[in-house]
Amino acid sequence: MNMLSINVNGKSVSADIQPRTHLADFLREKLNLTGTHLGCEHGVCGACTLLVDGVPTRSCITFAVACQQAEITTIEGLDEDEITRELRAAFTREHGLQCGYCTPGMIVSARDVVLRMDAPTEHDIRIAMSGNLCRCTGYVGIVRAIQQVVRDRRARGIAAIPNGNRTRLGPSGAGHAAAGIAPAKLVDAAQAKSAPVENAQAAHAAAASLKDTDWKPQTSFIETFTVAHPVDLVWDFFANIGAVASCLPGASLAGESVDGHVNGQVKIKVGPISAEFQGVADVTRHDATRSGTIVGAGKDKRSNSSTRGLIGYAVKQGDAPNQTKVDLTIGFTLTGALAQFSRSGLIQDVAGRIIAVFVQNLEAKLVHRAEGGTGVEPAIVGEFDAGALMRTMALDYVKRAFGWLFRRK
Ligand code: FES
Ligand code: FES
Repeated sequence: MNMLSINVNGKSVSADIQPRTHLADFLREKLNLTGTHLGCEHGVCGACTLLVDGVPTRSCITFAVACQQAEITTIEGLDEDEITRELRAAFTREHGLQCGYCTPGMIVSARDVVLRMDAPTEHDIRIAMSGNLCRCTGYVGIVRAIQQVVRDRRARGIAAIPNGNRTRLGPSGAGHAAAGIAPAKLVDAAQAKSAPVENAQAAHAAAASLKDTDWKPQTSFIETFTVAHPVDLVWDFFANIGAVASCLPGASLAGESVDGHVNGQVKIKVGPISAEFQGVADVTRHDATRSGTIVGAGKDKRSNSSTRGLIGYAVKQGDAPNQTKVDLTIGFTLTGALAQFSRSGLIQDVAGRIIAVFVQNLEAKLVHRAEGGTGVEPAIVGEFDAGALMRTMALDYVKRAFGWLFRRK
């Protein structure tokens, strides 16, 4: 149990809670503040949105203990808030709600739009509100209600506040989390970017942060693939960490490995979300067992997401001559806005497809190397678009379902 002290709707609250309790459960079950709704509990639908230190936050993926000393404002705490009152009236007028399940989260996000954005277009509002889903209204009334409130306030000479009165930056509860429950210390993106690769000391200091925790991955799995090349060639190829990284869609290194540490980045795209994780990794390699590990940490500044991950690999003789089997052990933890994707049951399927692209790229590079490395470098698939992968997967599922239906007849 952990002692939590926070301020909820202007009142100090202390409670003994389990570290795993998320903020929404804490508010609903311990404080009876049931205005915060829970829909997906995966950080996707936005129904649970409330304010942590003035910043709209999904309370279903925020641990209560991470909000130590933070100021929480739920929809109940916005009862007398001027913008909220105007939004409530506009939502009613414009039929911005039907069942009302999404409405508390909608209002909290809409309030942030009204507060921060000077003259948002309909498109701007739709983008800004795209993290809040509504199953009933079709959004037209919601968007119109927000437009009206913005227009009325600007007409009354009330200007937007560009940063929305936020006094703190960073993830929810940043700067307040109790010792021992703060996110693992990660390398700052700007720091990682600007660290000169040839500066072995800086790279070493950054990589040292990878070793000083008892970190265990939240998600892990094992994949095996086979390539039609001799084991020596494959093992030799794996020694070139830059070449291996270039086979992974979206990954690249910022330079050569220095004392087993490398700086690099991974770009991913999930629907409208693009993230660029900048970070550092420790690389080890054991000739005797033909195995190695890459342990890394990175941060995406825009989505405020962080990741730590490890890749273990073992290169073995395949079943046929000139065939190599590679066992991959993959483990990672994602925190921040993108954490929702690490909780999905689809993640292993997505990873399987990334590995398929990795193997395709690896094959192309191995063929090139087997031919003496002369001629044009092979074209490889360079970007990881998880959205496109998920769409392909959805199509596969539909095809499988149809196949199953027709087989039954
Ligand atoms: S319940 Fe939190 S985002 Fe859906
Ligand atoms: S009003 Fe029903 S989900 Fe939005």
